[in-house]
Amino acid sequence: MHTESLNVVYFDKDTSFDYLYPRRIQNLSEMHWTPLEIAKKSSEYLSGPNSKVLDIGSGVGKFCIVAGFFEPETLFYGVEQRNDLFNLAESVKNTLVLPNVKFIHNNITALDFDLFDSFYFFNSFYENIKPDLGIDTKIEANAELYSYYTNYVYQQLDQRPSGTRLVTYHGSIKQIPSSYKLIDNTHHYALKMWMRE
Ligand SMILES: C[S@@+](CC[C@H](N)C(=O)[O-])C[C@H]1O[C@@H](n2cnc3c(N)ncnc32)[C@H](O)[C@@H]1O
Repeated sequence: MHTESLNVVYFDKDTSFDYLYPRRIQNLSEMHWTPLEIAKKSSEYLSGPNSKVLDIGSGVGKFCIVAGFFEPETLFYGVEQRNDLFNLAESVKNTLVLPNVKFIHNNITALDFDLFDSFYFFNSFYENIKPDLGIDTKIEANAELYSYYTNYVYQQLDQRPSGTRLVTYHGSIKQIPSSYKLIDNTHHYALKMWMRE
């Protein structure tokens, strides 16, 4: 943890952290951004010195920024399709000065998972089948797109080497290849830690 940092005040509770963002983003937090406690627990499992963790759909960067604060020896990468959310993630990361956190503005399908050691996934494609619960009005219901993204991530995860760690928060276990063993299942079965066999 960056204990010497004055930033510690933001990592005490969710409302303090969310205050770094505009009101619209704060209001979306409970449903769309990873809670502090979950990000801390997940990052402990995913981290290792110099290892690279990818957040699949990083939104305003809450998971990566919290994880990067508590695990300074691990590199956290977030890929986000929405430009406005990517910009907010960059801005908060720069305010807090976290050199081990990087954001990429792109679609997940543009990324090669070979570049990363472990993965975090918070049910990012659900908005394609339930857009009314979404972040904004930019997404229309599209079950084919949901399947396309889900299959892409499934195939990429399946190709990872033995020992690869994955955390999922919410979502269906059908999205995870059977080559992954469930190691831990907590927080009312919402938070799952997996390992590639
Ligand atoms: C539930 S939010 C989670 C945000 C972040 N991981 C966190 O926990 O704080 C999911 C994010 O995934 C993004 N997303 C959805 N589909 C995507 C895709 N195909 N490529 C990149 N980002 C995507 C959405 O725009 C949204 O910001």
